[in-house]
Parts: sequence; structure tokens; C-alpha cells
Amino acid sequence: MPLSKFQPLLNEMTLTEKIAQLVQLAAPFFKGSKDEGQITGPLAGLGLSQQTVKDAGSVLGTSGAEEVIRIQKAHLQENRHGIPLLFMADIVHGYKTIFPVPIAIGCSFDLELAEKSAEIAAKEAAVSGLHVTFAPMADLVRDPRWGRVMETTGEDPYLNSEFARAFVRGFQGQNLSLESSRVAACVKHFAAYGAAEGGRDYNTVNMSERELRESYLPAYKAALDEGAEMVMTSFNTVDGIPATGNKNLMRDLLRDEWQFDGILISDWGAVKELIPHGVAKDEKEAARKAIEAGVDIEIMSACYALNLENLVLEGTINEALIDEAVLRIFTLKDKLGLFENPYRAADPEEEKKVVLSDENRVYARTLAEKSCVLLKNDGLLPLNVSKKVALIGPFSTSGDILGPWSWMGSKDEAVTLYEAMKTRLSHPNLITAQGCEIHTGSEEQLAKAIEAATNADIILLALGEASEMSGEAGSRTSIQLPQVQLELIKELKKVNKPMAAVLFNGRPLDLHVIVENTDAILEAWFPGTEGGSAIANLLFGDSSPSAKLTMSFPYSVGQVPVYYNCYNTGRPKDAVDAQERYVSQYLDSPNEPLFPFGFGLSYTTFHYENPSLSSSVMNENDTIEISVKVTNTGDASAEEIVQLYIQDVSGEVVRPLKELKAFQKIFLQPGQSEQVTFQLIEEQLRYYHSNLNFESDPGNFHVYIGGNSRDTLSLSFELRKKMEGKINDNSNSIKISN
Ligand code: GLC
Repeated sequence: MPLSKFQPLLNEMTLTEKIAQLVQLAAPFFKGSKDEGQITGPLAGLGLSQQTVKDAGSVLGTSGAEEVIRIQKAHLQENRHGIPLLFMADIVHGYKTIFPVPIAIGCSFDLELAEKSAEIAAKEAAVSGLHVTFAPMADLVRDPRWGRVMETTGEDPYLNSEFARAFVRGFQGQNLSLESSRVAACVKHFAAYGAAEGGRDYNTVNMSERELRESYLPAYKAALDEGAEMVMTSFNTVDGIPATGNKNLMRDLLRDEWQFDGILISDWGAVKELIPHGVAKDEKEAARKAIEAGVDIEIMSACYALNLENLVLEGTINEALIDEAVLRIFTLKDKLGLFENPYRAADPEEEKKVVLSDENRVYARTLAEKSCVLLKNDGLLPLNVSKKVALIGPFSTSGDILGPWSWMGSKDEAVTLYEAMKTRLSHPNLITAQGCEIHTGSEEQLAKAIEAATNADIILLALGEASEMSGEAGSRTSIQLPQVQLELIKELKKVNKPMAAVLFNGRPLDLHVIVENTDAILEAWFPGTEGGSAIANLLFGDSSPSAKLTMSFPYSVGQVPVYYNCYNTGRPKDAVDAQERYVSQYLDSPNEPLFPFGFGLSYTTFHYENPSLSSSVMNENDTIEISVKVTNTGDASAEEIVQLYIQDVSGEVVRPLKELKAFQKIFLQPGQSEQVTFQLIEEQLRYYHSNLNFESDPGNFHVYIGGNSRDTLSLSFELRKKMEGKINDNSNSIKISN
């Protein structure tokens, strides 16, 4: 490593001081915090010395510019070398202006708006004193039982990669050193956290290195290619070794193969969790394994603080490991300009203007409108303002629409569905009834709901999961709405009025009961601060829903995992010569999901025709063009997300039935047509072979193009390659590119 400009400072520091730089603690540990000294629970037992706190390198979770300024000022008065603190927090889908949860943003397929949402989040966070956000979360997911699916953009490696890039661009801008309204991005959770067995959070992850590289790693790599400054380790094991102590994953792959030289930070307590994982007998061994794996900062456990010095003094680890970690931390502090201006963009007066501004709310509303997925509509939507609407359900007036990881957002600042509906329908055309709570209900609530429904022309249900039913540690074995809500639907069905449902949830749900009993379904996810306004705009047709699912919705949890980019198996159920029974199927359920990846309805219809290829043969350096004519055949103007998939018909290993390779958003007036064209090159056909070489094979490919992953037009082409002598040339293996 070239001699750092911080080498002189490093030489001045004691080993104790250097180790303290690797420690991150919550704000209450620090002088000047609004909750100074309020250390409770497991944190109280960390056993940290006051000196460690005084010399700590970074702070987790602060509440605004004033607090940051107080903590930084107090710290600099006591830190012997005047080394500034780094302030970090989870700004995942907004700081105080809360945007839709990332699974919803993914459904927008709108990379520009995703980037803008991160830019706004960064601006609000930076003026509030923060320097780093623990985002984007780039974990691929295929299991809706897992609570953190709400934090990802879904089940496709390519789409997740594109969104990871967009979020990093928004958070970091072009140059962190020049743009103090941006924050450093920390891509997480490295790696494959979303593949927890059983969808149970923190559970074991088992998969081949080939599958890891093929499906789970691309989005992290994309975030790093886009310049993400940090990586956060995941809680799970990867091939039997917890990520936080996994040298193969962190040293060999992340540092050596990917050449990542930024900060690697543990997840909360993950260093100490090497003990319950069963790979460290005590905190000293946990500290050794984590530092040897290259973890630079330990969050919220004290293994480093209490053991690294002894490990160095007794010669078990080389002090150089400490030095390299400190230098990485100094490099980021320097990039953020903190040595010159430790307060960076923190400005309490400016904070009042920037945070939750009307302009930011407009973007939040726009993105929320583009993130709600219309799953069913038998003509009931858009609503007619002359009709009397009974708004019924636990989310009618609820502000719990920000979703998990919205800790700085306020439910009181959220626009509820009822508040938004009131601006559209004046009394008596809008009546409301709670109907039930999230999990419980009463006869009285039900009676009032039935009365409201009876006196209305249309029933509008507002149902869903409380935000704590997803998010971290929010895994569920059932993916249905709580039973009381399903009962409410069935009881209101008896009133025999047109009925629409708006859903607020953090995961794909088993919606078959709702599909059977309603005339329209709008999946709103957790739409954020402006959620109610966005939903009302869609319900009354100011704009048409345009979002498409980025994660499959199963018929039942029994199908899980069910995802579009699956393999065909040797006994595909729909093969022309398929036997009646002995095929890959369930006796009690279809194989396909209830709603597939890429699916979403509109207030209009789109017709796809005349697909064409510029050539039926692709040579290695060719670009072939795929074109299709799309026509708005309905009577509403709307956006359509045109999707391009491929299938490698015969690979060296089995290949997915479909792989998303491109998409385009178009806007068409009624009757308008557009020729949509995509380019495809050989690089997009590459995959990991059994020897981990990342390359394409000559042969036949299908191309599928349409408005979702199921209903597509198909074409075929052949890839031809000069077949040089095939050597096991590792030079082109193990590189990840998207
Ligand atoms: C949590 C989460 C992680 C978050 C970290 C700091 O446990 O797993 O996503 O960034 O702690 O809050």
C-alpha cells in the first residue's frame, strides 16, 4: 500500500488510540448526545473504558445537526490528535422525507427517480450532520417469509444491480469531497443475507460458489463499481463461515479479486456473534478472526476494544492489520473533508429549510405513485367522484405507512389515505370505518363497517401488515394478511357492493382470498410520507398505475421459493410430452406464482406486435437489435415498462428459463404506438461455468419481450464464437461484471 499521507499521524498514535478508531458506538455513549449516558440493555455490558469512548472513530445514529455538532465539539476537545468522528446511520429510503420502501421503488423500474430519492435522502442527512448511510441494501431475495425483502429491490440480479448503482449515485454524487450535501454509501449485507434458510432472519445460508457469483454477488459488485465507499458484513454464514469472519469472502474475493480498498464494517454485534455461530470460543478469538478477515470497524460490540491490543502485544496478530484499518478510516474522513471541517454540512438553520421540504415531498409522492402495483382491476378503478365510498380497514387512517428503516421519519407527518381521500370526496361521499385492527377486531367494529358499506356505493379496503411485521427480525411463516382482515373481507363481500383493496405490506403476500373477493387490488407496499396522496392520485385516475412486481407473489407460502428466473428441471410440467403425474409439480397448487415478476396492470391496455431481430446470428463483437411495436389500445394515457428477457437454450450448466437483460419505460397516449428497440451484446450472455469461468457459449438463445415475465413475444438467434483452443484460462474467470 503506498505510504499514506496519514502515516505521520499514525506514527504519533498509541496502539490503544489506533484500536479505538476501529470502534463504532451509538450516540448515547458520547458527550453531547441528547441521550448521553443512557446506555441500557446489552450495550451497558460492553465494558468499554471511557478512554475508548473518547478515542472512538465513529458514531451510529444521531438525531440532527445540533446533536452532531455538540458531540463532535466535545470529542475534539478531548481527542489528543484532534481526529474527527465519522457519523453514520441507516438512511435506506429517506431521512425525514420518507420514500417508498426499496421493494416498492424497485417496482417503479425508475432508476432516475430512485437516484433522486437517494440524492434527497443524502441532502437531508448531510445537513443533519451525517456522513455515511448504511445503504443500498443489495441482497437478492426469493423468500417472502424473510422480513427484509422490503429493503431490497427484488429477485433479479440485473435489476438489483441497476438500482444499487442508482442509489449509490444518488447518495454519493460525483465527488464526495466537493459535494457536502452527499453522503458516503455503504453497500450491504455482504453477502447473500437474503438467502437465509426458511426465510428466518440471521439463519444459515448454504449455496455453491457458482450460484453465489451468478445470482447473489452482482448487485454488491455493481454498487462497488459505482464507487460505494463502504461494505457492511452480513450476519449469516457463507459456506459454513460467518461472513464477518470469512477470509475467503472478505480478503480473497472482496479485497483481492474485486480490489475493494474501502472500509469494511461489521453489522451490529456481528463480530461478537462469531461466538454463538460457533467459530470463536471467546471475544478475543472473535476479534482475531474479524480483523484477519479485514473488518475495519466493529459496530456495537467490544471485541476489538477489549482484545486487539493484547493480540498485537502477544504477537498473535500483526499491528499492520490495525494500521491498514485505521488508514482506510482516515482516508474516508479525509475524502469527506472532516480533518478540515469536522462539522461538514451540519447546519441546524439550513436543516429546518431542507428537511421535509415541499419539494422533497413532491418527489416522494411521484415515486410513490410510480411504485404502487395494480394487481387486479375489473373496471372499478379509477373511482368515480360522484360515488359514495366507504373507506374501511386498519390502514384507512393509519400513519404507519412509512415502513421499516424510517427511524427519522414521523408517522404524524405522513399523509394518510383518509386525509388524501377527504380532499377528493366531500362528506357524505366519504365515510370511514375501522372494520378491525391489524390483528384483532370486535363485533362492534365489524357492525359499523357493514353499516358504512351498506350506505355506500363502493367499498375501499385499506388493509395490510403493521410495519413491524416485516423489516429486520420480521420473518413470518404465514404470508397471508392477519386472519381478522381476511374475515373482514369475507363479511363485507356479503354486502354485495363493488370492492377495491389497497394493501400496505412489506413483502409479497398470499393474496388469493383478496383476489377472490374484490374487484380491484392496488399494492401500495409502504409508500412513505406522501403515501396517501399518491394512492388517491392513482385511485381517482390523475395518473395510471405503471409499476411492475420485482418479486413473485406466490399462491401460498407452500410454493416458496418461487421466482421467475428459475431452471426448467428435467421434468417440466408444461412439456409437450409431459406425463400426467410424474413431472415437477404440486398436487395442490400450480407451479407458477399468483402474480409473476414484471407483472402490473394499468388503466389502459398495451398491445405488443411485430417483434424483430436485426440478425438471427450474433458474432462475438456484434450488437443485435431487438425491436417491437407497442400500442396503447385503451383510453387512458399511461407508462408501460417494456421488458427484454433472454434464455440460453443449452448451457454448460443449467440456465434460467428467463433472465431480464433490459427494460424501457415508455409513455403512450391512447391509440399511440412506439417502436421500442433494445441492443444486445455477447457480454450480456455470459454466466458462471462449473469452473467459475465467466463467459458465454455459442449456441441458440431465445429472446422474450413483453410487459411482464409471463406474457411475452419470442424470437431466437444464434451466438457464434471463434472456438480457439479451450484452455482452463483462469485469467477470464472469477471476474464479476454486469
Ligand atoms: C442492523 C442491520 C443493518 C444496519 C445496522 C446498523 O442490525 O442489520 O442493516 O445497518 O444494524 O443499524
